[in-house]
Amino acid sequence: MSQNDATREHLIETYRRKAKRYDVTSRLYPVPGYPQLSQRRRAVRALGLRPGDSVVDVACGTGLNFALLEEAVGPAGRIVGVDLTDAMLAQAQDRIETNGWSNVSLVQADATEFDFPTGIEAILSTYALTQVPGCAEVIARGAAALAEGGHWAVLDLKLPAGTPRWLAQLGMAIVRPFASIDEWGQRRPWETIRGVMQEELADFSWSELCFGTAFLAAGSV
Ligand SMILES: C[S@@+](CC[C@H](N)C(=O)[O-])C[C@H]1O[C@@H](n2cnc3c(N)ncnc32)[C@H](O)[C@@H]1O
Repeated sequence: MSQNDATREHLIETYRRKAKRYDVTSRLYPVPGYPQLSQRRRAVRALGLRPGDSVVDVACGTGLNFALLEEAVGPAGRIVGVDLTDAMLAQAQDRIETNGWSNVSLVQADATEFDFPTGIEAILSTYALTQVPGCAEVIARGAAALAEGGHWAVLDLKLPAGTPRWLAQLGMAIVRPFASIDEWGQRRPWETIRGVMQEELADFSWSELCFGTAFLAAGSV
């Protein structure tokens, strides 16, 4: 199932508005002071990448993971960034050119319709999959494309378990100006992601971060 056209257009418009300032505003996820970079580093480590590997960054946005992925796969490796929003990809392209990376390519596509290249060693998605209503399908299709022993890792936001209703509503009110999908809190997509990764992947691991406001899920095939 791909996002319906109205939702998809709304999301693209929202990220077109955010794109130029995204690298700064995203530092506020999920709360100011959250250790963004070290959590991204941890997610990349969970991919077990080696020099020369190929990795897909699903919903890569402005490419905030690219430097870490480059460090892991080196110049002989390959990085493919996929995203729905042209303006986010334009920022990613600037980053690629500024850094002179010749092994990073970008694809504008809905993750639910993206044809994963087969035989890749890893797939990463950070702060994005919970916005994709078809996230279960994305995980399953990605897992099917991985080479034997390949890794999938998802770093994203969630609501902490047992959050009182008033606190969850307050949290959503704070996140809403930055989030793109209002029904996120009711849909609880992190539970879907956890379920499908557990089903599709071996040595599945799940860690709650920052008092349960974020999670890192990982596994291999
Ligand atoms: C919060 S940003 C995260 C960007 C990046 N992964 C990061 O960690 O900074 C969410 C991104 O997901 C993208 N996105 C949302 N739904 C998508 C979909 N169905 N397919 C591909 N990209 C999508 C948006 O365009 C946006 O760039």
